[in-house]
Amino acid sequence: VSLDKKLLSKFDELIDKQGYQSRSEALRDLVRRQLSEEQLSNPKAKGVAAVFLVYDHHSTKLTDKLISLQHSHNLASSLQVISSLHVHLDEHDCLEVIVLRGQVGEINKVAESILSMKGVKLGRLNIVAT
Ligand code: NI
Repeated sequence: VSLDKKLLSKFDELIDKQGYQSRSEALRDLVRRQLSEEQLSNPKAKGVAAVFLVYDHHSTKLTDKLISLQHSHNLASSLQVISSLHVHLDEHDCLEVIVLRGQVGEINKVAESILSMKGVKLGRLNIVAT
């Protein structure tokens, strides 16, 4: 791999800030990340994901819907709910993290259906191809 001096010194500065011990390790991670990103464009690729959502548990039937959706997706072979975490943030709001494993296309579909539910205030999908 050849890089000009200026670019290389910027790269070294960046990875130093990020805490990398060596340039090789930083490069390996960069390549892995790029390959994983590329795989995400394939809906059949395998992936794991965390869906973060903040919602008001007073919202009509949302809690029930979330639970039954998670149970129903445990039954599909191409998608599993591995785990979920629930935190009561305050008197109204809950934070939930739902961890999914399966095909990227299926994960995206389920995440979209969760995040678009009425009562969900904030949400985000974090997904990586494995
Ligand atoms: Ni709660």
